[in-house]
Amino acid sequence: MNMRLDRYLVTLGVGSRSQVQKMIRQGAVTVEGTPVRDPGFSCRENASLTVSGAALDSRLTRHVMLHKPAGLLTAARDKKQPTVMDLLPPAYAAIGCMPVGRLDKDTTGLLLLTTDGELNHRLLAPARHVDKVYLAKVDVPLTEADIAAFAQGLHLSDFDAQPALLEILPGDGTMGRVTVHEGKFHQVKRMFSAVGKEVLTLHRETFGSLQLDDALSPGQWRELTEEELTALTSQAQMGG
Ligand code: URA
Repeated sequence: MNMRLDRYLVTLGVGSRSQVQKMIRQGAVTVEGTPVRDPGFSCRENASLTVSGAALDSRLTRHVMLHKPAGLLTAARDKKQPTVMDLLPPAYAAIGCMPVGRLDKDTTGLLLLTTDGELNHRLLAPARHVDKVYLAKVDVPLTEADIAAFAQGLHLSDFDAQPALLEILPGDGTMGRVTVHEGKFHQVKRMFSAVGKEVLTLHRETFGSLQLDDALSPGQWRELTEEELTALTSQAQMGG
């Protein structure tokens, strides 16, 4: 796909339309190694670009795995509070990279972000049953009865949660690993609350085929590998 050079640079977050037009006219921009002074130049997507000698990442499609730390909102933007987008270079927001679904402000762990609106939508569609695995620390020890209640499907105030797998992890019984197929608002916390437990910390380990990379500390991110993207895309295409 081709795009006017000035529009391309604006989309990549280089500056406003008038700022980038000025840069182009001044000869500060090269396309495939050649200075281009025409703001209307028809530029190929993913062309090699430099601005004032610095190479620019010209990809308009990005898929990011983020280790979300506690304390940030999962939102594309917010007027008052910091969001997960603050952890990425501004160009990511400029090209429309957005979180897929939502983790609560105090939840940590795997968050996927993508510029691909169709993929985003498909991964969240209830019919796709994309599993999510969470580690939860609760206030009192979990029991076999809780495992059975999760397996049965819990009745919450506004919906019936589908059956979910709960495992009690070794230790004092207050750590559980839960696999859910849905992603309703505060779902995991509400499921534990329905069996009389309060979630003290919640951490997401996996989202569908995607697993949080151990090498990422809270706040760190990386782009998906080709294999991860292929697996996720094929998962998004399955189901209803
Ligand atoms: N369920 C919750 O209750 N909170 C989250 O952040 C994710 C799932």
